[in-house]
Amino acid sequence: MASNVFTGVVDLIPEPRHVTAYGANWFALGPGTGLAAGEGAERTERWLRATLGAATGLPLASKESSGDDVIRLSIHPMVTKDLGAEGYRLAVMPTGVHLVGGGPAGLFWGAQTLRQLLGPGAFRRAPISGSWRLPLIHVQDSPRFRWRGLMLDVARHFMPKEGVLRYLDLMAAHKLNVFHFHLTDDQGWRVEIKRYPKLTETGSWRARTKFGHRASPLWEEKPHGGHYTQDDIREIVAYAAERHISVVPEIDVPGHSQAAIAAYPELGNTDVIDTTALSVWDNWGISPNVLAPTDNTLRFYEGVFEELLGLFPADAAEFSAFFHIGGDECLKDQWKQSPTAQSRIKELGLADEDELQSWFIGHFAKWLSARGRRLIGWDEILEGGLPDGAAVSSWRGYEGGVAAARAGHDVVMCPEQQVYLDHRQAAGADEPVPIGYVRTLEDVYRFEPVPPELDEQQRGRILGAQANVWTEVMEDHARVDYQTFPRLAAFAEVAWSRLPAPGERDFAAFEHRMAAHYPRLDALGVAYRPPAGPRPWQRRPGVPGRPVDGPPPNK
Ligand code: ACM
Repeated sequence: MASNVFTGVVDLIPEPRHVTAYGANWFALGPGTGLAAGEGAERTERWLRATLGAATGLPLASKESSGDDVIRLSIHPMVTKDLGAEGYRLAVMPTGVHLVGGGPAGLFWGAQTLRQLLGPGAFRRAPISGSWRLPLIHVQDSPRFRWRGLMLDVARHFMPKEGVLRYLDLMAAHKLNVFHFHLTDDQGWRVEIKRYPKLTETGSWRARTKFGHRASPLWEEKPHGGHYTQDDIREIVAYAAERHISVVPEIDVPGHSQAAIAAYPELGNTDVIDTTALSVWDNWGISPNVLAPTDNTLRFYEGVFEELLGLFPADAAEFSAFFHIGGDECLKDQWKQSPTAQSRIKELGLADEDELQSWFIGHFAKWLSARGRRLIGWDEILEGGLPDGAAVSSWRGYEGGVAAARAGHDVVMCPEQQVYLDHRQAAGADEPVPIGYVRTLEDVYRFEPVPPELDEQQRGRILGAQANVWTEVMEDHARVDYQTFPRLAAFAEVAWSRLPAPGERDFAAFEHRMAAHYPRLDALGVAYRPPAGPRPWQRRPGVPGRPVDGPPPNK
């Protein structure tokens, strides 16, 4: 392992597979340091010049790869063979740097390591010092999981485009590569659909918002809203792809759809309630107002998806062929009461409302598959039968993921008991709007995505893991930062770094490396939760969370 001279400098997060440091010596970057980029290195070259160039004030001009004082970027089949397309080797020598990727993505992740080695100043947007040096070091690295995801709920509280681009940068800095973009819910529809303008005219804002969790008596008495234009989405997808991040959009159906029904009342169960009286929901929970299982609804959403497929090209990045259609928490009360839904159940020869939901999801699985796409949904899509080729986000625990893997489906592990970052991160009364379980930095660090009961082949179905950020009680980007960090750094290590020994992680060593990581987060302007607890302005005294009284739930 690294020698003490470099303490704080080679404290990398996520921890690489192998690090060898060569004594107290350095390679200094200066105005003459150049970049020599081979084929496939274009994105990393652009990123280094733009990001490290801004932080250091150095030109990092193009240079021949022979000579000294060069950062060489290349892709080599030996690295691909040994470490995979996302692996890399980084060698810092007195004369320059060799960064070799197994593929373009590996090279990019190697560049993230290089940035950490330069110190916290490398995370700023303008230089605050004139001295930039790298320790002489050799790193060999590759990820444990292919899918290293972050889900952001921009429906409950809208995050303007600038904030999303910032989160893509924060993900890249932690070697995370899937941005699950939760674009629609009962409380808001956040993406422009040209053929259905009311989705955003009506569906993207609400008149007021519950402040605190459901049982809170408080209201934020002002309109809340916002949406991404189609050009905003194109920009977000391209910005992500430049960083080897796949954007997986989620349009949640057939539940969590009240905002869409408020915009187009005919999408709801009009034979059960007066859907013209609905508005975008201003409270939290699970709305009973779900989509009607009619041909009209299917055609409407095919229209929505047709526009979205154009905005989220399948080849943008590794997992861009995936399209998330939700499927969670669809209350069936209205379908039980609806003559239209009941006659659909009869006509299709289905057993019950669960099978009706399965038919609904199956329709879109086939529709997406015919267009070269893959459906992914929350683990409720297992109920009533899972369509061929569909993948599952296992959120209610490990069980859904285990069942899906055993049935030969791909799985992303994101159990709410472990990696829902909306849940409080300490037991104290100072936590802002505390909800759900207490999940500390250490708890997240000890999350193990692969359930032990799976055999070798079934384990291969675990694509990876994802942390989910639901924003009911996060009204702005500082609140999102507070809930997300530092726990996302622990999650990044879970998703990227191998276990040092089976079933074990060394939290003390992680905490030691975190001491070097907080200054990087400070330089990036991340409003994380400090280890000692929230700063005064990070608290929300008097705003009730969940449960309102009594201790937080244990499991
Ligand atoms: C979920 O948390 N409803 C997926």
